[in-house]
Amino acid sequence: MVKSIRSWFGLTSKDEKENELAKQFPIFDIQKFFLQTSNGHFKMVLKVTDTINSELLSDDEVIKAVEAIQSCLNALSLHQAMQILISSEQIDIEQYFAYLDQKAELAAADDNLFLMERIKGKRNFLKNHAQNARNVHNFYVVLSTNTKNPEDACDELYDTALALIEYLETGGMGMIPADEEEIKKVCYEKLNPKSSITEPYTENSSLSSLLPPAMEDHGGKTIEMDDVYHSFYTFSHFPEEVGPAWLKRVIEVKANVDISILLRPAEKSQFVKSTNRKLIELESKLVGKLPPMYQQKYEKQKESLEKLMEEIQSDTENLFDVSFILCLKEESLDDLKSAEKRLQTAIASSRFRSKKILFQGNQMVWYLLPICYSHEDLDKQISWPMQSTLVSSILPFNSSDLNYSEGVLKGMNGRTEGPVIYDRYNNSYFNNPNEVVFGESGSGKSYYLRLDMLRQVTTGTSNRIFVIDPEREYFLPDANRIIFRLGSEFTTNPFHIRSTVVDSDSNDDGSHDMEQYLRRKIAEMMSFFAWICPNLSAIEKGYLSEGIQRAYEQKGLALGTNINRLPSTFPTLEDLVHIMEENEETHNMIAALKPYVFGPYSSMFNGQTNWDMKKKVTILDIHELSDEVKRPLMDLLLKDIWEEIKISREEKKGLYVDEAWLLADEDNQQTMKFLREIAKRVRKYGGFLTTATQNVDDFLTIGKYGTAIFNNAFIKTFMKMSEKDIEELSRFMSFSEKELKILGKKKEQGHCIHVAAGKRIEMKVKSSPDERKVLGLEETKKVTKRQLIEQKLGISPT
Ligand SMILES: Nc1ncnc2c1ncn2[C@@H]1O[C@H](COP(=O)(O)OP(=O)(O)O)[C@@H](O)[C@H]1O
Ligand SMILES: [Mg+2]
Repeated sequence: MVKSIRSWFGLTSKDEKENELAKQFPIFDIQKFFLQTSNGHFKMVLKVTDTINSELLSDDEVIKAVEAIQSCLNALSLHQAMQILISSEQIDIEQYFAYLDQKAELAAADDNLFLMERIKGKRNFLKNHAQNARNVHNFYVVLSTNTKNPEDACDELYDTALALIEYLETGGMGMIPADEEEIKKVCYEKLNPKSSITEPYTENSSLSSLLPPAMEDHGGKTIEMDDVYHSFYTFSHFPEEVGPAWLKRVIEVKANVDISILLRPAEKSQFVKSTNRKLIELESKLVGKLPPMYQQKYEKQKESLEKLMEEIQSDTENLFDVSFILCLKEESLDDLKSAEKRLQTAIASSRFRSKKILFQGNQMVWYLLPICYSHEDLDKQISWPMQSTLVSSILPFNSSDLNYSEGVLKGMNGRTEGPVIYDRYNNSYFNNPNEVVFGESGSGKSYYLRLDMLRQVTTGTSNRIFVIDPEREYFLPDANRIIFRLGSEFTTNPFHIRSTVVDSDSNDDGSHDMEQYLRRKIAEMMSFFAWICPNLSAIEKGYLSEGIQRAYEQKGLALGTNINRLPSTFPTLEDLVHIMEENEETHNMIAALKPYVFGPYSSMFNGQTNWDMKKKVTILDIHELSDEVKRPLMDLLLKDIWEEIKISREEKKGLYVDEAWLLADEDNQQTMKFLREIAKRVRKYGGFLTTATQNVDDFLTIGKYGTAIFNNAFIKTFMKMSEKDIEELSRFMSFSEKELKILGKKKEQGHCIHVAAGKRIEMKVKSSPDERKVLGLEETKKVTKRQLIEQKLGISPT
């Protein structure tokens, strides 16, 4: 934009400036999902919702993503254009605060002081944390067409957008159209970077109200807008060879930098003609005698042109004129200068060269908006011919963020330090809410589960959780801890029935057919006995099953009769033994059962069940038991909890099973099989299953059920592991080199790879001071170098 002489001397009045800005504003109209710029072109804005994390992807996955983006680019017609806007924004924690505030209001209405305190703690923790976190990236794709007729233009944009969405999906990415309000909001925030924090965008704002009060051009080098200084860069040189995600360093530079990539499909034939001309020119230059410096330069140019010519002959390669515009934003000129330095370093270390865009006036600002703005003169000066593979291998939709602003905090992003927040029950993102946590002993699994449990019942949406605690390490406030030990006051009767919902794979209402239920119950009880009396012959199994059946009959639960309600007491193990005693051939079995009926374990198993799971948190503590009795008890407890879970489909509840490897036994796979059944069906009853284990190798290789549980979990957390475990795991899931490093390296506890909602991130499990207080966790103190030396020298600190 040419500026008047008056304006160079700052002689325009404010009104004049406003008018001038309004006149230049390139948005003419926005209706629903379509936007028209003042040059008459129609546009459609898409917001990228699912990104990939190239750092943690395997090579194959990277190739798939590049191909998906390439298909998108090749879907553009010659009269269309596309803008990819990589927008650097502060971590938006406000949305999660709004979610927490809603919870706090409900807690206040209930006078639930405990919950209010926890929410406050979480808020403070996140607020402090967010200040140190890096910016996150949001991505927009804007399509533009020259088609004049509005209806045709919109149809065309819509069709292209659908094709692009489909292509992106094949590479694990996703996007959705942004509507009028979203587009206006982004424009408002870009044009009012500072005041939009204190005065957020209000719905239904007019187009002119999106503009800032003024834009000041400082000597053609920076633009001041809303008290924020902006400077603009473009690339002036690209290296010969680039790898995948070749803009990554620039995108992730520690600075507020927005990157707009404008792509205009170019006619191949014209390019071939003009390139041929250039090649002939270069060749003729090279025939003559040249100083070595020029000789080399021209030879290099010739080589790269020839290579490009060769590549674009392929049908899958389209050609584009590509302009890159990078915009830096800082609140002071000094900060801007140091940001410029950091950007230049990042560019140089990527082996590119950049140049500052000077004397282009206010129009540079329009390139920052998601409107596919283009200015022919400038575009010509800064555009590069590039084939689609090269552009797509930028992998622009690359981000390590995982924050859905609702649900629980899972940890902190290992790269950006941003919070990882989501609600596992949200089925728009989660095919199922189950999680597996793998890691060697001491890697931080239980610490992570403890935090997750507390968060599920405070800031999350779980109504109840059940925990199997083999190490006595889960202490949550106001929990019902049931300790199973020799001479225990808590008895768990294998015959007990908490509910009679019959499992089925179908999604219809659970059947309450009692007879059918009883048949299953009898069959499933066999797996409890299999732990106690292994190697039963088929005949013995028959007697046992018959004995169980007769024991139920004595309490009025007879198969083949019409059962319509449960008795007040159930048969006991002793009843079973008495029934079986009549048969000589069961004496071996009875001998094996004795410790459970009359001996040391009798108080735990022989009698009526005398505990329930009504409290918000139920912890089943099996710490004091030997493995011999732990396993049959775990079997019983899982079945008991499962009956409780099935009582209601509406209530949200979670089951945590730690040290699940205890159940991996070659000869006794029935309990793992049952756990797999829970994993398959728990979602139907409003629940989730979290399974944590060390001995990953055993868990995955003994029998087939461990792998089924692993495959069934849509959330996976991998902490530090032994080489053997990693090797075993790699058979089921491919890990990139970077991931293997994280898994194998001696990093601090809680450092993990977290997979959720189809994304993989590096994550750190961190507790807030409030959580440490509530859970009785010790603060991990970093030992300083000085303290280390003092310790070594035996000097006690004064
Ligand atoms: N995220 C974390 N932050 C701080 N300390 C941790 C973290 N995770 C684990 N620890 C420390 O490491 C110890 C072992 O962790 P734990 O969760 O019991 O390991 P695992 O269950 O994998 O065997 C804990 O007692 C705790 O002190
Ligand atoms: Mg543990």
